Amino acid sequence: MKNIAIFASGTGSNAQKMMEHFAQHSQAKVTLVVSNKPKALVLEKAQNFGVATQVIQRDRFYHSAEVVESLQNQQIDLIVLAGFLWLVPQNLIAAFPNKIINIHPALLPKYGGKGMYGMRVHEAVVANQENESGITIHYVNEHYDEGKIIFQERCLVTPDDTPADVAKKVQALEHQHFPSVVEQLVKKLSNP
Ligand code: GRF
Repeated sequence: MKNIAIFASGTGSNAQKMMEHFAQHSQAKVTLVVSNKPKALVLEKAQNFGVATQVIQRDRFYHSAEVVESLQNQQIDLIVLAGFLWLVPQNLIAAFPNKIINIHPALLPKYGGKGMYGMRVHEAVVANQENESGITIHYVNEHYDEGKIIFQERCLVTPDDTPADVAKKVQALEHQHFPSVVEQLVKKLSNP
């Protein structure tokens, strides 16, 4: 059985889908939800699923081994970032090589990097009159949104789409694909 930790800063709709997907799974389960925000809705969602939660503090995250050690003690195998807004520190990346993934609500390498999150991404897509957007699931390295791409899926953007319309289309793709892409990775970890 592989243990998945989800890191999230916000609402946690993707975390919710992930917890649902793995609730009865034979190869993996979500055992921990980590947030940098004590009041993030994602923590309530985790509690409703009976999943353990942990709130992290910035100085300890960046300047101590506390979080890494806690993840190791809890035998976490895979870390899934789902709307987690802090850059992942080098010590965490080194402790979980190729075992940290992120979902980004655009077709990277476009519309990525520091500050490109949430509605800002969709506003930029609409401002640039793109005719498509989508999702990118990628490994995490020490730069925002730059690790190796694992999976992308596209959606159409029409000239009358507002940023909120694009957000809806992209979120539907996230919910549809993120759990199954994580499942594929779990299978790879189980049978390398
Ligand atoms: C998603 O759009 C995801 O791509 C991103 O942050 C958002 C999280 O949404 N990086 P939710 O909290 O899962 O609803």
